[in-house]
Order: sequence, then C-alpha cells, then structure tokens
Amino acid sequence: MRVGIVGSGRLGSRLGRLLAAAGHDVFFSDSDLALAEAAAGAAVRVSAGSGDGRARSGPPAEAAAFGDVLVLAVGWEAFPTVVAELGGALAGKIVIDPSNPIGERDGLAVMVAVPCGLTSPQYQQHVLGAGVRVVRTFNTKYPNELLDLGIAGQRGGARADMPYWGDDDEAKKAVVPLIEDAGFTAIDAGGLSEAR
Ligand SMILES: NC(=O)c1ccc[n+]([C@@H]2O[C@H](COP(=O)([O-])OP(=O)(O)OC[C@H]3O[C@@H](n4cnc5c(N)ncnc54)[C@H](OP(=O)(O)O)[C@@H]3O)[C@@H](O)[C@H]2O)c1
Repeated sequence: MRVGIVGSGRLGSRLGRLLAAAGHDVFFSDSDLALAEAAAGAAVRVSAGSGDGRARSGPPAEAAAFGDVLVLAVGWEAFPTVVAELGGALAGKIVIDPSNPIGERDGLAVMVAVPCGLTSPQYQQHVLGAGVRVVRTFNTKYPNELLDLGIAGQRGGARADMPYWGDDDEAKKAVVPLIEDAGFTAIDAGGLSEAR
C-alpha cells in the first residue's frame, strides 16, 4: 500500500520504518525535509534485508498526494495548521490519527482539553471535515516501544494488541492490514466516540 507520513518525528519515523520493512511503499515528509530524508534513509536500510518496502521523502503536500493512506503524525497543536496547509489533498483520504491531546508549555508536555466534550479523534475529524476518513490507532505506545514491539511481531514473536477506532467501516478495514503488517494484533475498539 502507498502510505504518506506527514511528520517524521519520533512516532512517524518509527511507524513508517515498520511499514516499509513490511513491504509498503512509504513517503516520509515533514516541515523539516532533512528529518524526512533521514527517516526514509533509516527505513530503506532496515527494509533492505527483505528486499521489499520502499521509502522516499519530500514535502508534505507530495506525501498527501502519494498516499492511499496518510498518517498525520504531527503534534496536537500543529494539527490544524497541517490540515490547512494540505487542504483539498486530504479529501476522501484515509487518515490515521495517532495524536494524543498533548501540548507544550515552557518546554514541558501538558494535557490539552479537547473542545466541546469530544474525544480527541472526534475533534480531529471535525478539523479535517466530513470528507476525510479518520481511523485512530498507533497512539497507545511510546515510539521506541512501538518500534520494538512491532519488530518482535514482524519477526514471529508475540504480538502486542493495537486498538483502532473509527466511524467509517471501510476505512477501518483498510487500516487493519497495516496494523497487522506493522507487527501487531489489530483490535477493533469501536467508534471515534469510544476512542482514547
Ligand atoms: N511521542 C510519543 O510518546 C507519542 C506516543 C503516542 C502518540 N504520539 C502522537 O504522535 C504525534 C507525533 O508525536 P511525536 O512525538 O512524533 O512528535 P515530534 O517528534 O515532535 O514529531 C512531529 C513532527 O511533525 C513536524 N511538523 C510540525 N508541523 C508540521 C507541518 N505543518 N507539516 C509537516 N510537519 C510538521 C514537526 O516538525 P517541527 O519540530 O519542525 O515542528 C516534527 O518533526 C503526536 O500527535 C503525538 O500525540 C506520540
């Protein structure tokens, strides 16, 4: 599958690496193109042994156009900006939302109140608009933990559970193989209103 990663930081780089190692075609992007390039380079090195997955890098708009599925792995507070920047490129896309409502104040991580009593991905769906198909997943592990657990699962070891939530059944079905290929057991945990 063609996967566009927007935000090649701690989470996006590691998740993209797992997906490339599994044979998916991954396009890394970031506001810092050098970071995206480094993430693609690391993904190419780990997937070289399998001879499958490909990784490339470039600007976010190109990643958005490239991906059948997009991962928006930017911070909670950057999310509305990214959505405004990508605009129509997101229409109709399946978007994996791994974000937790955590912001930064004076260099410290702080929980952010989600507006209007919504769950975090319900709010992201609101920001993205109804035409974007949100599936929330990959938000429940720290990035290094995600990578280690995913590699273990991919190598035939015990698989960790990975819950996913969404209101679009077809989009959920499309994301399940990505979760499984990343080395996890996909667990349907319900709709966006039930998400954590
Ligand atoms: N880290 C965790 O433990 C963890 C665990 C589970 C879920 N998550 C979620 O995963 C998401 C990413 O977290 P992270 O820890 O990977 O953050 P991160 O390391 O800060 O990476 C986010 C990346 O997105 C980039 N970015 C910001 N605005 C952008 C834009 N407009 N266009 C393109 N790229 C942009 C950032 O660049 P700049 O630095 O230049 O702004 C940064 O490189 C968050 O929503 C977080 O809640 C994180």
